[in-house]
Amino acid sequence: MCGIVGYLGGESVTPKLLEGLRRLEYRGYDSAGLATLEDGVIARRRTEGKLENLITRLRSEPLGGVAGIGHTRWATHGRPSEENAHPHAPAGATPEVAVVHNGIIENYKELRTELAAAGTKFSSETDTEVIVFLVQRELQRGATPLEAVQQTLTRLEGAFALAFLFAADENLLIAARRGSPLAVGVDTESASIGSDVLALASMTQKIAYLEEGDLAILRRGEFVCYGANGESVTRELKSVSQSNVQIGKGEYRHFMRKEIFEQPTAVGETLHSFLDPARLVATFPDLPTNAKDLRRMLSVACGTAFYAAATARYWIEAMTGIVSDVEIASELRYRKAALDDCGLALCVSQSGETMDTLEASRLLAQRGIPRVAIVNNADSTLARESDLSLLTRAGPEIGVASTKAFTTQLTLLACLALTLAEKRQTLETETLRRYAESLMELPSRLFEALELDKKIAQLAHDIAEAQHALYLGRGTLFPIALEGALKLKEISYIHAEGYAGGEMKHGPLALVDEEMPVVVLAPSGGLFAKIASNAEEVLARGGRMLLISDAEGLAAFGGKATWTLELPKVPELTQPILYALPMQLLAYHAALVRGTDVDQPRNLAKSVTVE
Ligand code: F6R
Repeated sequence: MCGIVGYLGGESVTPKLLEGLRRLEYRGYDSAGLATLEDGVIARRRTEGKLENLITRLRSEPLGGVAGIGHTRWATHGRPSEENAHPHAPAGATPEVAVVHNGIIENYKELRTELAAAGTKFSSETDTEVIVFLVQRELQRGATPLEAVQQTLTRLEGAFALAFLFAADENLLIAARRGSPLAVGVDTESASIGSDVLALASMTQKIAYLEEGDLAILRRGEFVCYGANGESVTRELKSVSQSNVQIGKGEYRHFMRKEIFEQPTAVGETLHSFLDPARLVATFPDLPTNAKDLRRMLSVACGTAFYAAATARYWIEAMTGIVSDVEIASELRYRKAALDDCGLALCVSQSGETMDTLEASRLLAQRGIPRVAIVNNADSTLARESDLSLLTRAGPEIGVASTKAFTTQLTLLACLALTLAEKRQTLETETLRRYAESLMELPSRLFEALELDKKIAQLAHDIAEAQHALYLGRGTLFPIALEGALKLKEISYIHAEGYAGGEMKHGPLALVDEEMPVVVLAPSGGLFAKIASNAEEVLARGGRMLLISDAEGLAAFGGKATWTLELPKVPELTQPILYALPMQLLAYHAALVRGTDVDQPRNLAKSVTVE
């Protein structure tokens, strides 16, 4: 989703802004641009496509100055193009103001009509452009930059983050946050703005997160903040804990590949936070509810995080007897949900900034339901707004397609199910210990699964030729089938669907022919016989099958599948976490064969901060 940077200091601003934008690339974007202020003149360079295009333009048309703002745009209003790219500034030789914007101005049509009636000529299709004209109108009426922004903000509806640059003042940037995340950095000789800490880490050592409704005035070494009611407020500046965060790919060709291979460590770190290896018990802070009295709980999330929650439902209900509903956050928001007996909500989100999940969480708060956030960013809005936040230890996830965030969410949720079972005494102590043991073994099993990389790379050539693919699973492997299909869709652009194995004969079987690859997740144990008969139904219709199982399951199926992958045999609890890895590698290699942009797939953004 759109990324914002801003910087002023003693150093040349263009390299600073470009480095900030490079660090925001992972969010997904389709155009990029900069505006800098030199000798009282605001100049802009904007290009469609990747940051490389902007860098090339800057080589032939450089920008100087020590203050500026930059942006990566993910199109919402208006197609990706140079005209629609940010920063926006009033057309003409000497604009007085430039702005970058993340989010949506919902009333932009009314504002556009009003401004057009007064003679404003727009040069883009964006909702953002109204902002610069409103600010410029106030400046021309004699307002100071701060007054002009304050006045303009009163006219805007929607959720957004903004950064402004003013021609009249080389030592001023203004930032505003309403709904979309924004942080600022202040050092003795500089000030900076960024959509996230990764962008800011290249510019500052001290950062403060803006709160909802904040307006920040930034000068070199100086930061003044006004809260939602216009009163002066203090926002604590903290040392950037992630300033040393390496966002390089290291030896890996793609972030996604690096993140897939980081999973044994990331899962291990997460276990370390939530399981005591000596006593083999889950260790959680106090939950904001009494687990013993809990009858019903609800998890909300989007996309991959939703599939993590959907998997956890099987664990929670089986281990604790608590009714565990799961709902897509954007659906919960707009229906009249009956939530009266719901005693706890889990809001699962890697970024902690997904607008739909945040709004669902706020709705649950209004209904008086205690909320636990499961996030990968301790400083995120969701974490800060929840009654308790639990941190997955995945580390920064840069590839747009979620991998290690997913398996660490699953790991944390499995530990949470154990702690609920322990508190409610719904499982024998010995069973709890066995479950904890199987989790502790997981990092080693994940290492073994990664050894399938070469084999998956080979068979991905066949899968990559397909136009469509099906993924089948049962029980906890059903959400993993859904996740496998999502991974393939989003990075290789092959149409894929996940189904519960038992559903095939109720419709999807009609799709099966000798062209259709069907991926079957079939670990030996509990539901093997059931999924094996679904697999037989596919083979009987001539389908090409990739069977993923352990040695016992593969032997039982007897060499009938077109391709096979053998995973280590693990207890049922950890099967979904282990089986997620070949799903990720398959999508990755299919994408490589098809030559798509693995880390930044078309049309997608990492952190979805609009509805
Ligand atoms: C898919 C993917 C998305 C995210 C979804 C929620 O690979 O990454 O489906 O899972 O956008 O994002 P978070 O977890 O940040 O709320």
